[in-house]
Amino acid sequence: MTTSRISGFYNLTLDQRRLKLAEVSHLTPVELIPFTEGLQAETAMHMVENMVGIYSLPLGIGLNFMVNGRDVLVPMVIEEPSVVAGASFMAKLARAGGGFITSSTQPEMIGQLQVLDIKNVQEAAKKVLERKSELIDYVNSADSSLVKRGGGARDIEVRVIESSIIGSFLVVHLIYDVRDAMGANAVNTACERLAPKIEAMTGGRVHLRILSNLTDRRLSLSRCVIPVNELAFDHFSGEKVRDGIIEAYAFAESDSYRAATHNKGIMNGVDSVVIATGNDWRAIEAGAHAYAARSGRYTSLSTWEKDGDGNLVGTLEMPMAVGIVGGATKVHPGAQSAVKLMNVSTASELAEVIVSVGLAQNMAALRALATEGIQRGHMSLHARQVAIAVGASGELIEQVASQMVMEQVVRIERAQEILRNLEG
Ligand code: MEV
Repeated sequence: MTTSRISGFYNLTLDQRRLKLAEVSHLTPVELIPFTEGLQAETAMHMVENMVGIYSLPLGIGLNFMVNGRDVLVPMVIEEPSVVAGASFMAKLARAGGGFITSSTQPEMIGQLQVLDIKNVQEAAKKVLERKSELIDYVNSADSSLVKRGGGARDIEVRVIESSIIGSFLVVHLIYDVRDAMGANAVNTACERLAPKIEAMTGGRVHLRILSNLTDRRLSLSRCVIPVNELAFDHFSGEKVRDGIIEAYAFAESDSYRAATHNKGIMNGVDSVVIATGNDWRAIEAGAHAYAARSGRYTSLSTWEKDGDGNLVGTLEMPMAVGIVGGATKVHPGAQSAVKLMNVSTASELAEVIVSVGLAQNMAALRALATEGIQRGHMSLHARQVAIAVGASGELIEQVASQMVMEQVVRIERAQEILRNLEG
């Protein structure tokens, strides 16, 4: 059984961390090699055009995650400090309340066909809906392997765009269950196949045939309950931290300028796992922000409230079109090892881990912002790294680091004073 609770992991040297990971995870030494060796040029050559090199990013392990009662070691690829530490720390607090409890919709993607030059758009929309099952069967007859795996076309929907700069037109949506794939290729292929049929039915001309990245039928949800006493630290009581987080959420909920930054914090966690698993983070970003604006006003993706016992409850629901088969996930050996490390067997399971990391990362940012401010957290992390670099170990790391932070705070205050004096 994998454990994600490894105390003092950050105190270890790089080699010690790798040994520890081999010890606590179920990955074989061979499966761990891609984490150290990364992508090879021969593979990268076949991934993109005009390839001249490999661009690397740090891979850290998110610790303490418990998702639906199961321990998960989370691979996170990110260039920004404090993200892995923040998510790991919040996962530890969430663990005390039972960890993250998740759920997902079916993995249904939406393919769009834009149908132009129709005489009577309403009439054409009716015709498409009347022959819905014929269209569904037609799509499914072409992708029998997906149908065998339990996926395939589920529905056809129509939307009439009444007035646009080119007048009215019809949009046909193909609802396509892609199971464990991200699904872009399958959906785009199915849309292209469907186009001549739609033209014959409507008498129109199909223009665009492409998936939508607003995958609002492919959602994942994660929820955590943080016992209020777990939130206390330094001179901040648990209640003060909890209320501070809820007040910070109220800001994001009601103001789009703040919501963008709040959601960026969520995406710090989300993207790091999406990238580690070779998934398309631009697709995830596009879907997340479009979903955040679905009411017509851009707002927070997460919610924070207190329950009847005074505990802090966080929820994050968002589109999560990720796959564990195909694409870069299949060809990038690091991505394969990343998926294996999390021990997920479906795309939905992966999606739920990712949303949990987003929620943990959101809480890390809100907790810091609502208490000591974000810069102090960054300073503490940096100070710990410096303490380790000069040879501190065990409890001495924290002692050296906290003294360094205190000195740094004094210096910042002095610098502010000098600036104020110079500005007169
Ligand atoms: C920085 O990468 C992310 C934060 O700005 C998120 C937030 O403000 O909630 C700290």
